[in-house]
Amino acid sequence: MSEDDDTRPSPGAIREPAMRRSGCGFRYDPEELSGGVDFSRAHELLHASSTLGVRDATEEDAEAIAERVNSAYRGDISRKGWTTEADLLGGQRTDAAMIRELLDDTLFRLAWEDDTLVATQQIEHLDEHTAELGMLAVAPDRQGAGLGRRMVADAEATARDRLGCRTLRIRVLHQRSELLRWYESLGFEHTGETAPFPTSPRFGEPRVNDLWFLVLEKRLNAG
Ligand SMILES: CC(C)(COP(=O)(O)OP(=O)(O)OC[C@H]1O[C@@H](n2cnc3c(N)ncnc32)[C@H](O)[C@@H]1OP(=O)(O)O)[C@@H](O)C(=O)NCCC(=O)NCCS
Repeated sequence: MSEDDDTRPSPGAIREPAMRRSGCGFRYDPEELSGGVDFSRAHELLHASSTLGVRDATEEDAEAIAERVNSAYRGDISRKGWTTEADLLGGQRTDAAMIRELLDDTLFRLAWEDDTLVATQQIEHLDEHTAELGMLAVAPDRQGAGLGRRMVADAEATARDRLGCRTLRIRVLHQRSELLRWYESLGFEHTGETAPFPTSPRFGEPRVNDLWFLVLEKRLNAG
């Protein structure tokens, strides 16, 4: 990974602890935010590319995040990748306003190659022990080269080392068998739980009737 990589939270990326969602145990110790956490493991876990940099998102990134996520998940452009939900859903996956709202409560990690946003992911602190990975998106023309795997490793290190979580959780549409196999290959296990797909058109326009998620989890080993 390049020396430019930001492995510590930038001041603009993590809100003041008092502003965090308090109902789900989402709290930071200010001491930790000011540098008490050792992120060297996250640094090792990511990648060795000389041009790729990974950092926390700020509100200024909202438009770019929405564009990257939508291009990976939906529409014809997403079909350039090896897995897409374009056959299941039309419309948008997200928009910049939604990303800004989410940035109040959750962390986004972004992989940049020079000025190009090549991958995104959202890491939400659900409770004391659990974080959820969402909006993992790799640019369709960059997929299949190991970037997704590296982002998941970064999400695991972030959840464990910065948020103090033991478990990383994901929700995957049950129809997406190739994607489920991919997560299984990365060590995620089925919990037996399911979750409903949101009904708001802000999350897309269903093209099939039975949209719901399977819930998978990965136990995070000590760093
Ligand atoms: C899922 C996603 C993040 C993976 O990113 P990626 O950069 O392609 O991931 P990687 O390159 O690390 O791994 C891809 C693997 O799939 C394999 N693969 C490539 N084409 C494939 C295909 N047609 N079918 C199945 N697997 C395929 C690759 O060989 C690779 O396997 P390996 O790690 O054993 O070599 C990316 O495809 C994406 O953004 N998809 C659209 C958005 C999405 O669905 N996000 C997840 C929502 S829960």
